[in-house]
Amino acid sequence: MKRHQSLHKLSRDHHHALVQARNLNLAAERNDEADLQQAALEFAAFWERELKSHFSLEELYLLPLLAKHKSTGAEEYRQTLDQHHEIRDLIDRLIERMAKATGVDPQLIEALGDSLRNHIRYEENTLFPSLEAVAGEDELRQMSEEIDEENSARSACPAPAKRTTTD
Ligand SMILES: [Fe+2]
Repeated sequence: MKRHQSLHKLSRDHHHALVQARNLNLAAERNDEADLQQAALEFAAFWERELKSHFSLEELYLLPLLAKHKSTGAEEYRQTLDQHHEIRDLIDRLIERMAKATGVDPQLIEALGDSLRNHIRYEENTLFPSLEAVAGEDELRQMSEEIDEENSARSACPAPAKRTTTD
C-alpha cells in the first residue's frame, strides 16, 4: 500500500529503526561481549539522536489526530503507547546496565531488538493505515507541517538532558 506523503518522514525513521533492531538481534545471536557492547552503544546513540524524538512526535501529533477521529481508548492508540512504554523501559534498563559496566545481557539486547521490530511493523501495518483511513487530506498535511516545524525547532535548540531528582 502506498504511504501518504505526510507519513514519509516517520516511515523513513522506521527504516532506520529496523536497521538498528537487526543490529541488536545479530549481536544477541553472536553473543560476543565486545559485539554486544558495541551494538548497545550504537543503539543508545541512535535513541538519543533520533528515536526518542520520533516517539514523542508521534505522541504529540499523530496519536491526537487518530484520537480525534476514534478515541484515546482505540486499540491502535493504546497499543502504540503501550509499545512505546515497553521499549522505553527496555532502553532504560540497557542504559542502566551500560553505566554499571557489568556487561550487556544478550537477552535484554534480543528483547529490545524484537520489541522494536514488532513495534515498527505494527505502526506500518496497522497504525498508519488506520490513520490514513480516518484523517482528512488537510489534517494529514497539517500534522506533517507541525512535525516538521517541531523537528526544526528541536534541531535548532536541543532539549536539555533529562534531569533526575534524588530526593
Ligand atoms: Fe513510529
